[in-house]
Amino acid sequence: MKALLPLMVFVLAACDQMREDPAKRTYDTSSFFDDGKVARNPPAGTLTRDSTDELTSRDAAGQLLSTLPMPIDRALLDRGHERYQIFCAVCHGDDGYGDGIVPQRGFPSPPSFHTDRLRGAPVGYFHEVITQGYGVMFSYASRVPSRDRWAIAAYIRALQLSQHTPLSSLDEETRNALPDG
Ligand code: HEC
Repeated sequence: MKALLPLMVFVLAACDQMREDPAKRTYDTSSFFDDGKVARNPPAGTLTRDSTDELTSRDAAGQLLSTLPMPIDRALLDRGHERYQIFCAVCHGDDGYGDGIVPQRGFPSPPSFHTDRLRGAPVGYFHEVITQGYGVMFSYASRVPSRDRWAIAAYIRALQLSQHTPLSSLDEETRNALPDG
């Protein structure tokens, strides 16, 4: 037993040293930085991963929204047009027929937006597809903020109308202004 005593003292001393580990906890103080804090502030403009601006595609009952969660005006549609040209037209084509440059080079062809199924889909569906991706199409959630996703969804609705507006739904003045044929 006597022989073991120095060894035990040594082991206990080693434990003591470990307790003085220089690692700091988030809210400790530190003389290393001028402000005396361990925690650093995130750089200006940092967004949280659980996206503070997220506007969901569905209502509280889980139904896809059939109207935009914001007022629709010319500025929103212009923004949607611009973002669509940047992020979607390469595959879906300028007019939404699914004939963009990427599928022309071999990527699977996206469906046309001008089908009864997609004309009938609630506008929230487009926000949801952009957010989550769909089949071989990847999610754009990290590249297109939620408000812009809605702007794109509104623009797709406008594209659909541009290709499928019954003459009878136009007023006479607009109808007369159309070119013949
Ligand atoms: C790299 C090419 C590519 C890009 C860019 C792209 N898509 Fe797609 N998208 C596809 C393909 C391919 C499909 C069909 C996927 C499948 O069926 O597996 C598709 C499907 C869809 C669908 C149809 C879902 C359905 O029910 O049939 C919608 C809506 C859609 N995309 C919207 C968008 C929007 C909006 C953007 C821009 C933010 C976008 N896509 C960008 C390739 C793309």
